[in-house]
Amino acid sequence: MEFYLASSVLEKLTETVSFIRSKSIIKPKIGLILGSGLGAFVDQVQVSTVLPYKDIPHFLPPTVDGHQGNLILGHVGVNPVAILQGRNHYYEGHSMETVVFPTRTLALLGIESLILTNSAGGFGDTMQPGDFMILEDHINLMGTNPLMGPNIKELGPRFPDMTEAYDKRLIEQMELIFKKHSTQYHKGIYCAVSGPTYETPAEVRYLKLIGGKAVGMSTVPEVIAANHLGLRVAALSCITNLASGISRQKLSHEEVTDTAKRVEQKFSSFMKEFIETLS
Ligand code: HPA
Repeated sequence: MEFYLASSVLEKLTETVSFIRSKSIIKPKIGLILGSGLGAFVDQVQVSTVLPYKDIPHFLPPTVDGHQGNLILGHVGVNPVAILQGRNHYYEGHSMETVVFPTRTLALLGIESLILTNSAGGFGDTMQPGDFMILEDHINLMGTNPLMGPNIKELGPRFPDMTEAYDKRLIEQMELIFKKHSTQYHKGIYCAVSGPTYETPAEVRYLKLIGGKAVGMSTVPEVIAANHLGLRVAALSCITNLASGISRQKLSHEEVTDTAKRVEQKFSSFMKEFIETLS
């Protein structure tokens, strides 16, 4: 049974990777996962191939407003990239295996670095909606882990190290670009929760107490899977709203997508420059 479970993920991955390779000759070196409302970055990409998730074996179309569902292969500067425009979330009822399947696909396509973006509620001092936060670490409060179950040794070790889950060199590179443009940014710990409810004010006070600065419902499963696979990881949050209880305003998905839209251009030019500087 164990062998069957582990090997079926590998079989699915092999099928998916062969399908993508049959549609594109691009060998991506950098992977990107774009969060809610941040999909416009694709305008900065020299696009070669667009594959809707519904056409890719074992990929599921996203169900959340603000998330497109395309795999895009192309170039940013000289760098070949694979972009996941939209992700599957745990709160949609997907298994963790489904949530990390696209990340594993990118790794098997040959990427060496993975850049993730997300929308998050901020509760760090001086944070304002529209700010960016570089993830320097995370706290996984989702109540599960995508690597639970039999280890797939072809993908990585049973007990992956997480002491540098977010690559220090990539963090420095992001900081250099923000500084060059005198763009204010934050750096901090992202707390991942399952959602789909936003947090209570008491939960946000707890997250602050344990050292977090932002909270969201994504990213960490992919970061864990990517570390298992030995990828270099960078992640950036768009602080779309102040977390529950930080201001008097109630939280809504509209606020999240509106803020993401507002900073989309700034975000896109940052991301283009960041990827161009990677080699
Ligand atoms: N909490 C959790 N997830 C989020 C938030 C939030 O405040 N904003 C955007 N995603």
